[in-house]
Amino acid sequence: MIKGDTKVHSLYGSPVAHSLSPVIFNTTFQKLSLNRAYVPFEVSRDNLKQAVEAARILGFDGFNVTMPHKTAIVEMLDRLDKNAEKSGAVNTVDTTKNGLVGYNTDGEGAIRALRSYGFEPNNKRILVLGAGGAAQAIVHRLSSENNTVRILNRTLGKARQLADNATGTSRISYGELAKSSLEKGMEDADLLVNATPIRTSTLISQLKINRVKDTGWVFDLAYDKPGEPVPIGRGTISPLEMLVHQAALSYEIWLNETAPVDLMRSSLADHLGKDWR
Ligand SMILES: NC(=O)c1ccc[n+]([C@@H]2O[C@H](COP(=O)([O-])OP(=O)(O)OC[C@H]3O[C@@H](n4cnc5c(N)ncnc54)[C@H](OP(=O)(O)O)[C@@H]3O)[C@@H](O)[C@H]2O)c1
Repeated sequence: MIKGDTKVHSLYGSPVAHSLSPVIFNTTFQKLSLNRAYVPFEVSRDNLKQAVEAARILGFDGFNVTMPHKTAIVEMLDRLDKNAEKSGAVNTVDTTKNGLVGYNTDGEGAIRALRSYGFEPNNKRILVLGAGGAAQAIVHRLSSENNTVRILNRTLGKARQLADNATGTSRISYGELAKSSLEKGMEDADLLVNATPIRTSTLISQLKINRVKDTGWVFDLAYDKPGEPVPIGRGTISPLEMLVHQAALSYEIWLNETAPVDLMRSSLADHLGKDWR
């Protein structure tokens, strides 16, 4: 029950009605009898600045931001952690006595999701499709783990920029996303991370790819659309697992304690009526 002293967290985005984050947080808070609530707000681009000021004035105890605000919010905050600074994008904000601090959990959320399936992203061949915000965060995170990373993107210049900016011990190359490059890249990849809004099974059929080796994992970041995905590769890592780990990372930033990941996952699985692992 919401009371006079309930701590409030929020989500700013547009659209937000479809978001599953309120389910994960509110169910978890209730099950743990925490006096906290998580409320989504539809915030347009024009109103983001006022919404951020409102979070300060109303004393929200930390909030999330999603599309289309992840980049625009950066200049409205007082400080950024190193991942947010590197990627130039924020999805989690902590309210501290020294002001609002922005974090980017895309990279770490993806790595934790991979590990929860038993995939250790170290010394692996990894093919990344896309060079937008999520791809940037994931490539930066993977580049410190001695992997061989190939980035394929529709706009070649963005893939080049991402490869050029990556630091760390990994070997990074790039190319244009096309039938031949995807076919070749999938031949020996241990993992394909698809950070475009198009599902891998759809891309494969659009590009008329016939041969798909079944030794690598496939990780689509875009959430499931209605209809069964075409089985590809050795196994599929669900974007819902990344969502859960991102929620867990926000919980850890806001509450400064280890997150109850299993409870957060089961809260979402119960709501959806399916367990994806
Ligand atoms: N599961 C999770 O927790 C989670 C977390 C973050 C993001 N996501 C999902 O990941 C996806 C990417 O997010 P983002 O923030 O990186 O978006 P973004 O910054 O807009 O980047 C989108 C990327 O997809 C490419 N793209 C877009 N439409 C395409 C098409 N029709 N064919 C081929 N490539 C296309 C773009 O290529 P160009 O450079 O050529 O435009 C760009 O590289 C979204 O679906 C988002 O919902 C999921």
